[in-house]
Amino acid sequence: MKKLFIKTYGCQMNVYDSDRMADALAPSGYEATTDIDEADLVVLNTCHIREKAAEKVYSELGRLRIMRQKKEQKGGEMMIGIAGCVAQAEGEEIVRRAPVVDLVFGPQSYHRLPDLVEQAQTKKVVETDFPAEDKFEHLPKPKKETTIARGLTSFLTVQEGCDKFCSFCVVPYTRGAEVSRPVHQIITEAQDLVDAGVKEITLLGQNVNAYHGLDANGETQGLAQLLYKLADIDGLDRLRYTTSHPRDMDDALINAHRDLDMLMPYLHLPVQAGSDSILKSMNRQHTVEDYMRLLERIREARPDIALSGDFIVGFPGETDEDFEGTLKLVRDVEYAQAYSFKYSTRPGTPGATMDNQVPEEVKSERLQRLQELLNHQQTEFNKSRIGTTMPVLFEKTGRDPGQIVGRSPYLQPVQVEADPSHIGTIRDVFIDSVGKFSLFGKIVINS
Ligand code: SAH
Ligand code: SF4
Ligand code: F3S
Repeated sequence: MKKLFIKTYGCQMNVYDSDRMADALAPSGYEATTDIDEADLVVLNTCHIREKAAEKVYSELGRLRIMRQKKEQKGGEMMIGIAGCVAQAEGEEIVRRAPVVDLVFGPQSYHRLPDLVEQAQTKKVVETDFPAEDKFEHLPKPKKETTIARGLTSFLTVQEGCDKFCSFCVVPYTRGAEVSRPVHQIITEAQDLVDAGVKEITLLGQNVNAYHGLDANGETQGLAQLLYKLADIDGLDRLRYTTSHPRDMDDALINAHRDLDMLMPYLHLPVQAGSDSILKSMNRQHTVEDYMRLLERIREARPDIALSGDFIVGFPGETDEDFEGTLKLVRDVEYAQAYSFKYSTRPGTPGATMDNQVPEEVKSERLQRLQELLNHQQTEFNKSRIGTTMPVLFEKTGRDPGQIVGRSPYLQPVQVEADPSHIGTIRDVFIDSVGKFSLFGKIVINS
């Protein structure tokens, strides 16, 4: 058995992809390891979204170079591959800048990995084309044991790429145009996950709610229809999806939140900024009011829905007043959770050449203020659960002996002292206290 070590950066789609790479290489005799020292093949599955994310790859390659030298001195070998969005964006440049790399391959080539690794035994390989064939049709299925060893919750990519071209973002360049997988392929994959013991599936896409896949009759189905179909799978308890764009939240999807109990009441719906002029120059194609009205409709359909978002501070031209608009929007919405970032200039995107770039210290100061507010909201949201009872899907044992950990419908980690036999089941938990990251409680015994 050869050993494969994959390090994953970036979004959940990369997490999903890393498992697919492991699946693709399993028939060639590669077994996943968490110990990099014993790896015959190391793959960095990279992210290009912000400058820091991309730079991490090169600093990791510096470390890998030394590790490989040591291994070679002892007569060992270590092949190094770069996958993901930096691979797609920089291609040949990576091999030039870091000659230690043997193999560079983009997200659309993962099914060809055995062949690419074979070629890389004798020469440098760079493969960043978008092949005509559907990679999903060619990726081998994992064994049931492999699937369940990865956990009781699973990601499932249903859509890749993005046609939105927000002016700050590299994704449309690294992941290409929007493509949706056909309905039957997704249902089959979901059924296989459930057969292996998976209880919760999170559908993934760079713009997951732009999903428009073909069904068996050649008709286009949206994300809502897909969710209704998945909800029929016996043994599947929970559904989630991420990441959505406000412009693609149609009525059918909002109604699915009303109709489907197993669709969890938690929605990641990034708005990025709370100023119409900034939203316009970001090319988000909606206003603050559009977003607020949309949230009203979603909350009408599912009153207990918890919201999450992404924010960028310091986009070119952002004034103090624009930033105050972002703070106001956050105060008005009351997020349960959110991610916020300083604008990072990405070469090749329209934002990179805009006038009025915001100085670094202004970005830092704004980020700090925004994060204070968002952290406060998250704490308040968590505290609001104290004294309530929530269904928790228990996933694994906790850090302390005797503890087990699961997730609430709102994706909060919940720790209780209980027998591990509860793992894999959903139990009502009475929440009695809140820590920094988790909630604590007791399983309610229903008599
Ligand atoms: N498709 C998703 C976002 C994918 S990228 C959407 O449209 O919402 C994840 C997040 O990274 C974005 O929501 C944005 O907040 C952040 N991001 C993207 N490009 C960035 C940049 N150049 N600088 C800082 N943050 C960025
Ligand atoms: Fe990037 Fe915008 Fe596409 Fe999201 S919608 S991936 S932020 S271009
Ligand atoms: Fe990063 Fe690519 Fe995801 S740039 S955020 S890994 S789509």
